[in-house]
Amino acid sequence: MTGPILLIGGTGFLGSFVAARLAPLGPVVALVRPTSDRSVLPDGLQVRVGDLSSTLPLEGIDTLVYCASMGFGHVPPLVSALEAAGVRRAVFVSTTAIFTSLPAPSRAVRLAAEAAVQASTLDWTILRPTMIYGTDRDRNISRLLRYLRRWPVFPLCGNALWQPVHVEDVADAVVSALDSPLAVRNSYNLPGAQPVRFSELVRTAARAVNRRVLLVPVPIPAAALAARATRLVTPEQVHRLAEDKAFTYADATRDFNYHPRSFAEGVAAEARLLFSV
Ligand SMILES: NC(=O)c1ccc[n+]([C@@H]2O[C@H](COP(=O)([O-])OP(=O)(O)OC[C@H]3O[C@@H](n4cnc5c(N)ncnc54)[C@H](OP(=O)(O)O)[C@@H]3O)[C@@H](O)[C@H]2O)c1
Repeated sequence: MTGPILLIGGTGFLGSFVAARLAPLGPVVALVRPTSDRSVLPDGLQVRVGDLSSTLPLEGIDTLVYCASMGFGHVPPLVSALEAAGVRRAVFVSTTAIFTSLPAPSRAVRLAAEAAVQASTLDWTILRPTMIYGTDRDRNISRLLRYLRRWPVFPLCGNALWQPVHVEDVADAVVSALDSPLAVRNSYNLPGAQPVRFSELVRTAARAVNRRVLLVPVPIPAAALAARATRLVTPEQVHRLAEDKAFTYADATRDFNYHPRSFAEGVAAEARLLFSV
């Protein structure tokens, strides 16, 4: 690498952890929108103001780390712009949600985005985390922990396999993959250490906040109502509750030493962070 790394999505939940890891490694420029909260970026990090929906300032950039969503149609034109600007290395954060069998509206957009990256002349890597958790900026486990501290009963819809991944493990993987020649022109799933049944996930989260929880099985339509009331999950997530979301990651371990923590360890750390328990 000669020029600075451009980090897109650096003010996001995952991106802020990636920014903290990239900043000591060399020149990094974070793309920010005029409305972005720059206070989550490390002190002294360079910024360029721009927006994925318009032409990006790519002068001097030879490496990209992309932590914004691939589900809004920005990626195919971005890939062309990167090629034209002579950017070589690019790591894109996608999602294992592309493997859903449900007709999620963003799935086709995400698949087209991955296809554009894979067809490009870039030295690309695609990383697909499962559900990411770890701080009050996550939109999943932090809500579950808050719920479990207040309520002793949880509506259990389905009992599928989940494999959430801690945000620090994903951020470490982004930086390690960026540096790994083996990861060039490869895609990897990034799940947590082991799959857990949804019932076990909820019980483990309850233990992390020193609570007991009674799991009450409910059919999917009733769970959708409960979700709306508690705002723990979105309607699409309710229907995904019934789907197994378990993935292997031996290729990521082999190519960039990926060793994610267990959910029990990660959720206990999040509970300490949120509630000092
Ligand atoms: N969170 C999860 O559970 C999860 C699970 C699997 C995969 N992923 C993937 O991981 C990546 C990061 O997720 P996240 O939860 O960290 O996302 P996030 O918190 O919503 O952050 C999104 C980032 O993208 C930036 N952004 C959005 N639209 C933009 C635009 N038009 N132009 C420039 N920047 C724009 C945001 O900037 P502002 O600060 O200005 O809003 C923010 O920095 C995404 O690819 C997501 O699909 C996330």
